[in-house]
Amino acid sequence: MTTSSSLLNLFFLLLTFTIKLKFAIAGGTVKDIDGNVLNITSKYSIFPSIENHGGVTVAKTGVKNQLLVVLSSSALPVTFTDSNSTKAILTDDIVLVNFTNIPKYNGSSSWIVIYDKSAKVPYVAVGSAKDYPSHQIKTGTFKIESIGALYKFVFCSDIANTSCKDVGVYQENGGIKRLALTGDALLIKFKKDSI
Ligand SMILES: *[C@@H]1O[C@H](CO)[C@@H](O)[C@H](O)[C@H]1NC(C)=O
Ligand SMILES: *[C@@H]1O[C@H](CO)[C@@H](O)[C@H](O)[C@H]1NC(C)=O
Ligand SMILES: *[C@@H]1O[C@H](CO)[C@@H](O)[C@H](O)[C@H]1NC(C)=O
Ligand SMILES: *[C@@H]1O[C@H](CO)[C@@H](O)[C@H](O)[C@H]1NC(C)=O
Ligand SMILES: *[C@@H]1O[C@H](CO)[C@@H](O)[C@H](O)[C@H]1NC(C)=O
Repeated sequence: MTTSSSLLNLFFLLLTFTIKLKFAIAGGTVKDIDGNVLNITSKYSIFPSIENHGGVTVAKTGVKNQLLVVLSSSALPVTFTDSNSTKAILTDDIVLVNFTNIPKYNGSSSWIVIYDKSAKVPYVAVGSAKDYPSHQIKTGTFKIESIGALYKFVFCSDIANTSCKDVGVYQENGGIKRLALTGDALLIKFKKDSI
């Protein structure tokens, strides 16, 4: 090996290390209300930051097989998967959110974002493209961002985070409160499920 090539190797090694270090610092951990870091093995309930305002759960609509993600009186636990394969859930990482305790919805219990005539904005639903043949599926991924001691979900249509939209709440004429890509971000907190 020549000196220049080993220097080059060292350079790339350092570069990789620096990039890794940068990434490690970039994403903070997501913590539950007890101060424990969220991990991929536990189940969590998602609550709005305002006390006694229910929790995030599912709701059926008239539309066949459609399962919406809504804010209602109680929370249905979810699990998170971090796409960086870390056991801890980090902010700014792409996360999969899956409801637990519901039947697999045509093979999927994941959150997705869909679009149809029933709402003026894209909203969060459960399942896969197979479940929504007559809807438009919005391509993108969820991330958790921290806001002080609280968190919010964002939905990003690219990895570079240049086109992320806050997940807020959409309600039409006193109807169900859908989680949707509209308005102010829904500020949330996580509580580990005892089961
Ligand atoms: C996940 O977090 C819970 C509490 O927050 C803890 O009891 C459990 O051991 C953690 N699991 C792993 C694999 O870190
Ligand atoms: C992996 O983590 C880094 C830093 O936390 C983040 O910038 C990057 O977007 C993550 N990658 C994915 C695919 O989530
Ligand atoms: C969440 O759902 C997706 C899509 O159905 C699946 O690929 C993934 O394995 C699920 N994750 C967990 C932790 O169940
Ligand atoms: C989804 O599941 C429902 C019932 O659970 C079924 O009627 C429907 O055909 C399924 N759709 C697809 C595309 O598999
Ligand atoms: C990603 O986008 C969201 C929504 O615009 C923003 O709150 C967040 O700070 C951004 N994260 C990074 C790492 O730029």
